[in-house]
Amino acid sequence: MTDRTITLSASGQQLACKSGHRNLLEVFEHHQVEVEYQCREGYCGSCRMKLVSGEVRYSEKPLAFVAEGEILPCCCMPVAHIEISF
Ligand code: FES
Repeated sequence: MTDRTITLSASGQQLACKSGHRNLLEVFEHHQVEVEYQCREGYCGSCRMKLVSGEVRYSEKPLAFVAEGEILPCCCMPVAHIEISF
């Protein structure tokens, strides 16, 4: 299985994804990293974050607008290692 870790650029903290995590928001919660969210379904856009490097995959195309370089952690998972501006 691909090693998927998330680096938070502000603190340098590294978070590991476990196979039971369905999305990036669950990875943050697992590591007690507090992030903004509301709908958890790719609808409201409140979980929006900036992706510094790497790539994510959405389980379903989110309804909220996602600009280039942004991600919605409530409905995506990293493809491999990613870095997030947080
Ligand atoms: S929490 Fe609403 S889009 Fe992610």
